[in-house]
Amino acid sequence: MTTTVEAGPLDVTALRREFPILQQRSHGRRLVYLDSASSSQRPRAVLDAMDHYYETTHANVHRGVYAIAEEATRQFEMARRAVGRFIKAPRPEVEVIFTKNATEALNLVAHSYGRHLLPDRKAILLTELEHHANIVPWLMLAAERGVELRYLPVGDDYRLDLRDLDRLMDGVGLVGVSTMSNVLGTITDLSPIVQAAHAAGAVVVADASQLVPHRSVDVRALGVDFLAFTGHKMLGPTGIGVLWGREELLDAMPPFLGGGEMIRDVRLDGFTPNDLPWKFEAGTPPIAEAVGLHAAIGFLESLGMNRVAAHETDLTSRAIEILMERHGDDLKIFGPTTDLPARGGVLSLAFRDLHAHDLAQVLDAEGICIRAGHHCAKPLMRRLGVTATARASFYVYNGEDDIQALSDALDVAAAFFG
Ligand code: ALA
Repeated sequence: MTTTVEAGPLDVTALRREFPILQQRSHGRRLVYLDSASSSQRPRAVLDAMDHYYETTHANVHRGVYAIAEEATRQFEMARRAVGRFIKAPRPEVEVIFTKNATEALNLVAHSYGRHLLPDRKAILLTELEHHANIVPWLMLAAERGVELRYLPVGDDYRLDLRDLDRLMDGVGLVGVSTMSNVLGTITDLSPIVQAAHAAGAVVVADASQLVPHRSVDVRALGVDFLAFTGHKMLGPTGIGVLWGREELLDAMPPFLGGGEMIRDVRLDGFTPNDLPWKFEAGTPPIAEAVGLHAAIGFLESLGMNRVAAHETDLTSRAIEILMERHGDDLKIFGPTTDLPARGGVLSLAFRDLHAHDLAQVLDAEGICIRAGHHCAKPLMRRLGVTATARASFYVYNGEDDIQALSDALDVAAAFFG
């Protein structure tokens, strides 16, 4: 597929027309969607691709010998190659595994690598800013195998504090690290962590759920060993996630879930696993979702990931400026406010002494969708000394009018709660 990449800044007004849900009103107001870190919206191209697939092609993959089954298989495997190309995987046809979501991808690594290949007496190093999906599978493994868990701390500048990296890395066999915090927006400088990990003989598992939708990602340049992300945060459907892994590691790992598709042979007394990547894809996979994810990738590629990143950096910078200028005394931003290219479009806020849920409810009445709560990152919330934040997050369809709407709504909240 040839993709034409446009030039110049994103045309948000034109882009919004591609998203049917954004044409709706909410509580009689323009729908202002500021919760893409939780789940993005889908353009017509993705919805149409999935409808078209179901209307013309659907059959199970890798099984039928009839025409539509072969076409379904072809589309499913083309989606795998498109995903691989998007993250510059050297061998997409074997290294890209479709899962249910990023959480399942991380659990796959915890199970098949952590339980079977992590050497005895090796520790696991995580960070304080991880999402629960990159903590709980390792806590479960630690409880089962008696593995020591360590954490890289978050500094007062909301970035990872690497001063103790060498000491913490000593004796570590696996590092789990988020490439971008879903709470703080901090983008991790992976290179010193990857270097130290590899020098210690450890593998690096990156949770890239917040990064892949927003930045151009090259797995070879990142140098990580595994990368997990999800379709629904990158304009694709729910129900599909991706695990990319280095071929030699995936090859050495035993299967995760058992069932159809992941086997080459089954006998009454045993089974032989399938080749990569199907060894890790038990049961009927998310076929229409793969087709939708392929369309989402095509959409992002036609925008150009560098333009997507530039748009979000500009918007985040304007948001910080507008909100601090107008509400500075009442507002606290949890996350870096300088070096903006090294942070994503996620703004976690505290406003006056309002509970985040109260604030989110007032904003909802104004047609504005934000997320309030612990954002599935309770250890980070404890580090920040709060139980919840109100979080606005941006994507390609957000513009300065959305920031103005948010700012106006903060005034409404201030007036409402007195
Ligand atoms: N991980 C998603 C979020 O941060 C659900 O909101």
